[in-house]
Amino acid sequence: MLLELKSVRKRFGGVVALRNGNLSVRAGEVHLLMGENGAGKSTMMKIVAGMQTRDGGEMLWQGRPVNFRSPAEAAANGIAMVHQESLLAPHLSVAENIFLGREERRPFGFLNRRKMQEAAARLIERHGFPLQADWQVGRLSPAGKQLVEICRALQHGSSLLIFDEPTSSLSDAETAEVFKIVRTLRQRGTGVIYITHRLDELREVGDRVTVLRDGETVHTGDIADLTTDRLIQHMVGREVNAIYRRESLPPGDELLRVESLSRRPLLQDIHLQIRAGEIVGLAGLIGAGRTELCRLIFGLDVADSGRIFVSGRPVRIRSPRDAVREGIALVPEDRQKTGLATGLPLGVNITLASLPAVSRFGFILGRQEREVIARQMERLRVKAESPKQLAGRLSGGNQQKIVIAKWLARGAKVFLFDEPTRGIDVGAKVEVFEVMDQLARSGAGILMVSSELPELLQVADRILVMRQGRIVAELPGRTTQEEIMSYAALAGSVNASQESVQ
Ligand SMILES: Nc1ncnc2c1ncn2[C@@H]1O[C@H](COP(=O)(O)OP(=O)(O)OP(=O)(O)O)[C@@H](O)[C@H]1O
Ligand SMILES: [Mg+2]
Repeated sequence: MLLELKSVRKRFGGVVALRNGNLSVRAGEVHLLMGENGAGKSTMMKIVAGMQTRDGGEMLWQGRPVNFRSPAEAAANGIAMVHQESLLAPHLSVAENIFLGREERRPFGFLNRRKMQEAAARLIERHGFPLQADWQVGRLSPAGKQLVEICRALQHGSSLLIFDEPTSSLSDAETAEVFKIVRTLRQRGTGVIYITHRLDELREVGDRVTVLRDGETVHTGDIADLTTDRLIQHMVGREVNAIYRRESLPPGDELLRVESLSRRPLLQDIHLQIRAGEIVGLAGLIGAGRTELCRLIFGLDVADSGRIFVSGRPVRIRSPRDAVREGIALVPEDRQKTGLATGLPLGVNITLASLPAVSRFGFILGRQEREVIARQMERLRVKAESPKQLAGRLSGGNQQKIVIAKWLARGAKVFLFDEPTRGIDVGAKVEVFEVMDQLARSGAGILMVSSELPELLQVADRILVMRQGRIVAELPGRTTQEEIMSYAALAGSVNASQESVQ
């Protein structure tokens, strides 16, 4: 056995992240690690990778009891991890990040800069990633950062590679490349641990699976022997109907209208309308301009031309503050960068957008605010110790829920959801859809960007398809994936992914 964990425990203050973690990984297998948001997956892997120390239990590496006290020590033993939340240095280049922490271990001291650039360029090219060695990492999209993390882990050349939700922000082509990498590693006899919430990835890459629930290993076995229903039951501990179908409402008054909006070259001549009670889907490949469109409507970027109307009134949106005043909310794709104040308590994050003045930042929350927070946490099943816990300390999926809760608390009229279910577990996905449905029923209008076509088909009344910065089709909600793809993917559009990666 390459790696064995026995009854591993870890707590953070009052939060028990791991109460009984058991895992065994063989060389040359792809071992999936699954479980709900907050189940303890990342914590268990951080212990393996030396980023966190365990409170109890045993860890055996190649048969020997070990106790890694730092990531460097784990790396020296041949263990590397691709993290869920980017740990890259934003002000450094792609190449520098790939080699960060490695330079000093070379026999001749510091790697020379040009050599480093060349080595990084070769690595990037071998995998066909849309990156350049000299790009600054802070300017990359979540997908770009993820690809850098992967290059970095590969460069360390390990016996065990841990991937913590590597594909949640990637396009289909990039995901296929990650699968190829995983298969190559397996062939070479490397052990791979792969965390994902995507059930379709399970059978595509995995050999065995371990399921964690509430910090405890509840199942380990061959994937071939496991039905999807059974797997979900292990994860959630109850029956969940993963097939959600929303019932459309008769649409009400127009809430948002966009006319000939452009920001060249990313967006050209966009027209759209959202009415009360409607959920409008926005489909397209990565790089088609969907995130850019949300940013523009929310005032994060400014249009070259075009007009925006809210409830029939022309409005001028030059900043997020303008958008918020007009009742527009954005639940962004990149929760760490734009959605969440990771250094503030989660309760404050939830009420942040609704606090009238900065003077309320003393974190002394009134009773009313505490109630709002409790209600939103309950509604989205946020797993946390208390509203005082720092948002950055929540599990990845729970951070995403906080970003959503924040806007729900504010009561906006038009919601722009950019990939709202990314990184959210099966049970909670249905909750997110239900929240969206409730919003629509209470008279809000929603624009939902999603790369998960089955989800758009479950939720949307109408689906707009973008390609290369334009809306190229409007389809009814009951269309098919094939129909959407026939508009989204035409020759030439693949190159556009570079725009979104930088
Ligand atoms: N540094 C920390 N301080 C306090 N609590 C933490 C810390 N890291 C994790 N936790 C808590 O431990 C629990 C397990 O978190 P973990 O990140 O391991 O979950 P996960 O299974 O990876 O979830 P997800 O699917 O959402 O990524 C959560 O309740 C989380 O809030
Ligand atoms: Mg995690």
